[in-house]
Amino acid sequence: MLKTLLAACLAAGLTLPGAVAQAAKADEPIVIRFAHVVTDDTPKGQGALLLQKLVAERLGDRVKVEVHANSSLVGDAEELAALQRGDVHLLAPSLAKFEQYTPKLKVFDLPFLFDDLAAVDRFQQRPTGRDLLLSMSQHGIIGLAYWHNGMKQLSANRPLQQPADARELSFRIQSSKVLEAQFAAVGARSVKLPFAEVRSALQGGKVQGAENPWSNLYSQQLYQVQPYISETNHGVLDYMLVSNARFWYGIPHEIRSELEAIIDEVTYAVNQQAARLNAADRERIAASGKSRIIALSDAERAAWREAMQPVWQQFEGEIGATVLRAAKAANRSAQN
Ligand code: SIN
Repeated sequence: MLKTLLAACLAAGLTLPGAVAQAAKADEPIVIRFAHVVTDDTPKGQGALLLQKLVAERLGDRVKVEVHANSSLVGDAEELAALQRGDVHLLAPSLAKFEQYTPKLKVFDLPFLFDDLAAVDRFQQRPTGRDLLLSMSQHGIIGLAYWHNGMKQLSANRPLQQPADARELSFRIQSSKVLEAQFAAVGARSVKLPFAEVRSALQGGKVQGAENPWSNLYSQQLYQVQPYISETNHGVLDYMLVSNARFWYGIPHEIRSELEAIIDEVTYAVNQQAARLNAADRERIAASGKSRIIALSDAERAAWREAMQPVWQQFEGEIGATVLRAAKAANRSAQN
């Protein structure tokens, strides 16, 4: 099959992407390098391993998935450029990391936009959300699926009960202007740092706070250096599984179809398990006694929401009114 494709491409004067062409010439399996920045025991880490296992079982002689976890091959500051160069072939960056490729995905960073993960899921599965998977094709990046992690919590070296408690603190953020504006809205500073540097920056005092889902707080041991975690659920940290379009469409159709079916299966498993993994990590953190989990009253949460919500208007023009409207409509409260 690979040899047939190679012959057809050569006859048509086309070139195959390097990795696929090399495999075709040598009649060897196509190697798919999947790099990510979290540990194996997280929703994304588990998804990558399940993908590797199912591909080995079903396409073992034709495709091999290599998984490079925890920023071991490439960190989040360089991973998308590495994908565009073809150095890696699958990534699942957090949705905040696509800022320079499309403004539309900024919708996922807006604070207090989604009521919960179920609302995020509805938005991702509806037509507007699905269209966003293709919003970076002009950069050669194709979205294959959304994978959940979970809702973000605020952590700090002092208790955050009211928005004013965050004033003057520095928070580590992902590289996102929306997240910068979100912290500015409560009088806080923000520092953009790669994920691999978050723990040491918190420990060394470069920043005093952060925002993360329970899974990242636990797996990176951030709870050990953040004595207070406020259960704000103020935003979402989800992923888009992406590939280099040229690489992906260079994979012979029959193999690619099988890979896409496996991705559908893995996506279902990741999205079923993410909430459970986050809940278990929340319990582990609570049991550790290292960090106090602060519950917010309805009035306190409403105060955070009121302080941060002006950020929506700031970015509505870039995101587009249609996308923003579709995201709001995914909340259960919007249907009542
Ligand atoms: C990740 O979960 O992939 C990392 C997110 C972050 O940089 O905070």
